[in-house]
Amino acid sequence: MILVWSGALIILYLLFKILNATDVPKIRGLPEAPGWPIVGSLFHLGDNHALVLLKMARSLGPVFQVRLGNKRIIVANSFDSIKELWVHNQASLISRPVLYTYHTVFSSNQEFTIGTSPWDDSCKRRRKAAATALNKPAVQSYMSIVDVESCSTINEILKDCDDGRKDISIFRHIQRLTLNISLMLNYGTRFTSSLDKLLEEIFEIQEAIGKFRSTSDNWQDYIPLLRLFPSKSTETDSYRLRRNDYLKLLLDGLKKEIASGTDRPCIIGHILKDPSVKLTEAEINSICSGMISATLDTLPATIIFAIGYLSSAHGQEIQERAYEEIQDAYPNGDAWEKCLIEEEVPYITALYKEILRYYTIDRMSLPRQSVNDIHYNGVTIPAGTLFYMNAFAGDYDEKHFQDPYTFNPERYLGDVEGTPHLAYGAGSRICIGAHLANRELFTFFIRLISSFRILGPKNRDDAAILDAMEANECPTALAARPKPFKCRFEPRNKDLLESWLTKRIRL
Ligand code: HEM
Repeated sequence: MILVWSGALIILYLLFKILNATDVPKIRGLPEAPGWPIVGSLFHLGDNHALVLLKMARSLGPVFQVRLGNKRIIVANSFDSIKELWVHNQASLISRPVLYTYHTVFSSNQEFTIGTSPWDDSCKRRRKAAATALNKPAVQSYMSIVDVESCSTINEILKDCDDGRKDISIFRHIQRLTLNISLMLNYGTRFTSSLDKLLEEIFEIQEAIGKFRSTSDNWQDYIPLLRLFPSKSTETDSYRLRRNDYLKLLLDGLKKEIASGTDRPCIIGHILKDPSVKLTEAEINSICSGMISATLDTLPATIIFAIGYLSSAHGQEIQERAYEEIQDAYPNGDAWEKCLIEEEVPYITALYKEILRYYTIDRMSLPRQSVNDIHYNGVTIPAGTLFYMNAFAGDYDEKHFQDPYTFNPERYLGDVEGTPHLAYGAGSRICIGAHLANRELFTFFIRLISSFRILGPKNRDDAAILDAMEANECPTALAARPKPFKCRFEPRNKDLLESWLTKRIRL
């Protein structure tokens, strides 16, 4: 009997040892977040990892280790520590982890997107090709697309706004704007109405994919036992199939246009027509879906959050200052044209930088994995360790930003040396679409503020929430999403606006 009991105890002990093991053993000399055996800190971190980690950093210090299930993760929570690890150690922090939900269940048999690929020759080639397609001269050549789409969106808002009398939701208009720019760049195609069913379908799928990539919502990434329950797999499968359907529809549409000679210049068109480029359809789809999701996860939410802020009482002051600065820079009224070729209104540049900082859409950035040992403050962090950047905490670091909880574009007027904020990440895998995104933000806000006064809704219950954390509808998703709100758009000079739009819209 004693033998049986001791045998059972030994088995239980070994089982516990196996379940309680982590990919990287506990790192000596680095504080650790509180946690329990097997699950680690999963319960302690709750739904809103960025906020809880920011609070933990007050007692643990800016850099500490967290154990989530069987994974050990280093989290950096201050601007300086992020710079030290992500920028000064960029060669060592160049890879991305392979996570169960996204990489095994959602992406099985498919190429990963650039943003989810571990660092290897294929990722290097794809990143280089995409970075070339998104460099400064290339982005300048896309400004005609930004021109058409921003005009079209402002035209839609004008039709919808009832001269500032009606409370309207801006979500679909902005989603169509950013999706159209992305589709025109990749496939040379666009949606003519924000009510299109396919537009809705693409956004629904993108939102779901964002959840599969979440670092806080997928416990099966950290606890292998949970993979025995298949419900998540069925859900991910269905979204994968729906996404493949729309990618096929877009690619087939482009192929037909190429065959009939009616295609417009675009990135995928160049690839399909260039006999020296040998990419499979899956690889082409992987590049496109990556570009589409990188845009749709970030840009629409950034613009929508910003419009919400501008519709507030404080937002009125910011709009009036912005409008005056636009008039001062372009007294002849040619800001509308000049914003496509130059960025000469420093207040608008400062405004979009502050929007990016204040809302830091990817609160926990995108995860990294080290490829070499990293030495930090006398501690050796072994190669192969996961790193999470708490970008939100870095962008709200009081040692780096004065009064960080106040929305204040003026902090970016004058000389700002180095990294202005962490919204685009940092170091070797920093966002490669940042220049395009900045140009889109600058152009759109010049045109929007020149066209309308953005006012709060008549029904105060529909007013936008201004606090960046409170305004986020889904803290567990990879990227922040604005809670629904409404506002009003009052044309500053309707006749002038209509004449601009009539001249420009060739839809
Ligand atoms: C406001 C808009 C945007 C924000 C806030 C944003 C944010 C980010 C962040 C935080 C990362 C991870 C960086 C890191 O690990 O350090 C990233 C990566 C990336 N972004 Fe963006 N992004 C935006 C727009 C875009 C656009 C418009 C494109 C392309 C058209 C794009 C393409 C990419 C790609 C391909 C990566 C992966 C880079 C890599 O893993 O090497 N992004 N972005």
